[in-house]
Amino acid sequence: MSDKVIITEVGLRDGLQNQPNPVSTQQKLAMANALINAGVTHLEATSFVHPKLVPQMADAADVLAGLASTSNDLNVSVLVPNMKGYERAKENGVKSVGVVVASTDTFNLKNLNMTTDKAASICQQVIEQAKLDGLATRVYISGACVCPYEGKTPVDVTLGLTEKMIATGADEISISDTVGGGNPQQIIDILTPLVEQFGPERFNLHLHDTRGQALAMAWAGITLGIRRFDSSIGGLGGCPFAPGASGNVATEDIVYMLQEAGLDTGIQLGALKTAVEVSAQATGQSLGGSIYHWMLSQEKLKQDKEARENPCI
Ligand code: COA
Ligand code: ZN
Repeated sequence: MSDKVIITEVGLRDGLQNQPNPVSTQQKLAMANALINAGVTHLEATSFVHPKLVPQMADAADVLAGLASTSNDLNVSVLVPNMKGYERAKENGVKSVGVVVASTDTFNLKNLNMTTDKAASICQQVIEQAKLDGLATRVYISGACVCPYEGKTPVDVTLGLTEKMIATGADEISISDTVGGGNPQQIIDILTPLVEQFGPERFNLHLHDTRGQALAMAWAGITLGIRRFDSSIGGLGGCPFAPGASGNVATEDIVYMLQEAGLDTGIQLGALKTAVEVSAQATGQSLGGSIYHWMLSQEKLKQDKEARENPCI
C-alpha cells in the first residue's frame, strides 16, 4: 500500500465560513501562502455559495485570482452547492469542484434549502456537467456518521448515497463527519464494504474533532488503505448549519501522526507552526492543535536551556 498521503487543507473554506470576524482577502492569501510554504499541495480555497448566507465566502473570485499568481503546483478546489455555484466556479477557472449531500432531509434543508433527493440530484447534475467540461469532482457525504438534527446515521444511508454518486461518475467521495460525532468503528463499518467494492483510492475522510475522535478515525481509515484526508490549520472552523460542530482535525496533528507512522504527506511540521500563527492573526482566534502546543513547549524548553548555558547573553 502506498506510503504517500494527500492532505487537503480546508481551513480557508471549512475553517473560515463560520468565523464571526470578517477575514479580508489579503489575510486569506497570507494564510494560503503560509500553508503553501509548509508544503501543502491541495487547498480547498473557498466556496461559491449564497454570499448573504455565508458572507465570509463572498470574495471567492478574489481569493482565486490571488491564488492564481501564487503557485503552479497547487491543486485548488472549491465547494459549490448548486449549478449556479458550479457556473461561477467554472468562470473563475477552477479545475476541481466539491458538491455536498447530507444524510438527512433536515440537514439538507438547513444547509442547502433542499431535500436529500433534490441535493443528490443537484450533485449528479454538477458531476455530469463537470465531466463534459473536464473538471474533477468530489462529493461530500455530509453527516456520514451523525446528523446534527436526527442523530446517528445508519450505515446503509451513507453507503446508498456514496454508491449513487460513484455510479454517476464522481471522482472522489469524501466521507464527512461534519459534526465530529462519529467514532473509529463507524469508519470501519462504512469504509470496509466501500473499499471492498471500489478500492480505497477514491475515498477521502473529512473529520471534525469536536469530541476528540478525529485522529483515531483517520487511523481507522489508514488501516483500510485510505490515503486522502482533509484537515484545517490549527483546527480552525465549524459549520454554520451544523450546531455544535468544532473545526476539522488540525493539520499539524494529522501531519504529525502520519509522519511518525512513516507515511509521507510532503508537509513540513515546523512551517505549519507559522501557518497556525498567521491564521490566528487573520481570524483573531486562539488556534492550534495538540502538536502546535507541543511545538511551542519544545521551543520554550530550548530557549530555557540556551539561557542556562549562556547566562551572560
Ligand atoms: N451563489 C450565489 N448566489 C446564488 C447561488 C450561488 N451558488 N445559488 C443561488 N443563488 C442566488 C440566486 O441567484 C437567487 O438570487 P436572487 O434572489 O437575486 O434571484 C437566490 O440566491 C435564491 O436562489 P435559490 O436557488 O432559491 O437558492 P436558495 O435560497 O434556495 O439557497 C443555496 C440555496 C444552496 C444557494 C444556499 O442554501 C446556500 O448557499 N447554501 C450553502 C450553505 C453552505 O455554505 N454551507 C456550508 C458548506 S456545506
Ligand atoms: Zn467540514
